[in-house]
Amino acid sequence: MDINKFDLYNPPEDLVEKAYLYYSQLRENNPIHENSDGSFIVTSYETLVDIYKNHQLWSSDKKEEFKPKFGNSLLYEHHTTSVVFTDQPDHTRIRKIFQHAFTPRALAHIENNVEQLVQSYIDEMKEKKDIEFVRDFSFRLPVDVVCDILGVPKEDRKLIRDWARLILGALEPTLSEEQFKSGCSAVLNFKNYLKDQVNLRKKNPHLSRDGEIISTLIDAQSSGIELSEVELLHQCIFMLNAGHETSTNMLSHGMCEFINNKDQLDLLRNDETLISSAIEEILRYHPPIQVNNRRNKKDTILENKKIPKGTSVHMIIAAANRDPKQFNNPDKFIVSRKPNKHLSFGLGIHICAGNTLARIEGRVAFLKLVRSFKDFNLQAKPKIANRIRFREIEQLNIEVS
Ligand code: HEM
Repeated sequence: MDINKFDLYNPPEDLVEKAYLYYSQLRENNPIHENSDGSFIVTSYETLVDIYKNHQLWSSDKKEEFKPKFGNSLLYEHHTTSVVFTDQPDHTRIRKIFQHAFTPRALAHIENNVEQLVQSYIDEMKEKKDIEFVRDFSFRLPVDVVCDILGVPKEDRKLIRDWARLILGALEPTLSEEQFKSGCSAVLNFKNYLKDQVNLRKKNPHLSRDGEIISTLIDAQSSGIELSEVELLHQCIFMLNAGHETSTNMLSHGMCEFINNKDQLDLLRNDETLISSAIEEILRYHPPIQVNNRRNKKDTILENKKIPKGTSVHMIIAAANRDPKQFNNPDKFIVSRKPNKHLSFGLGIHICAGNTLARIEGRVAFLKLVRSFKDFNLQAKPKIANRIRFREIEQLNIEVS
């Protein structure tokens, strides 16, 4: 296709399959590209960094943008209350609670839990020949971790996953009436569910555990951090959503790339000190969140193009992470890559609040997998979901030995 006609709101049918190819063509030919609705797509590493760093100019607040899309619905309430879609000063106030949730002590507790969970899935995998890696491993770990820290019982975890998908699915560039309705009822059900959990802990403080987030947030609230009940509930929903799909996809893509690049798997097997750089490379190579958004508060020039005030900009992390001006040999998966300043966790004031936790999950998972199995192979072509904002592997059938 003629890349100048590329439109995120009417994307080519093979965009998911050939995402990195389309995005690199945009970056090379038209790094500030206008969509049919007047919004812009930006793809170069340098420009993404500039936008992330200049939060005074580039707003994350989505009230104006989401009003026509979501009206006064619960989806609107959720997506405009979540920390990620707020500007200062609200952002500074709300973000503080995440510092309470992820203290070094809480993270040590969580890491211990991650070790045990990973070992238990591996023990089960050893009993099987054929493995669906998403179902048997990569989906389980982040959901179990995030539900444990939120104190959600095992039997409710499927509900949480379904709600999360419906709520995050509403952020895709186009939205059907049905997706809208199910997104709204997912927010309602999720809110009611968490309200019960909050009340349970308020009435029974002895239920609170070390490293458990709802109690930490309630404590933070009572120790003077200004946060309404609605704000608290939406941060919990956001954390559950933000903390599991993304990590699931980091793990699934990691497995795929180790299978596609056995030389890199062997490198890690022979030198475990490469584990941290290997996780960074998985994150760079397939950013689980492929697109972030901002809107400018005044007229701006980006790479010589005039961007009028109030324009929505789609920042393609998937393109910036493969920008040859920043990364040598960007389309190659290299576990020892250093430096590797990928943008998969964003940058600036909104940088991912759970990045340490996600990195712990990645390191523990792949170290234990590599130590437990000699080899991994694909049984079928991985199934990639038809989504643009999140890069999701739906099904990954593998054989382990
Ligand atoms: C591989 C896994 C993950 C990836 C790739 C990822 C990616 C991101 C990105 C790109 C942002 C920035 C959004 C923006 O600037 O607009 C972000 C923000 C955020 N993430 Fe993550 N994330 C991951 C895991 C997690 C986990 C495990 C948690 C918590 C349990 C979490 C919680 C958050 C929160 C609270 C924010 C909002 C921060 C703010 O606005 O100040 N994330 N994440």
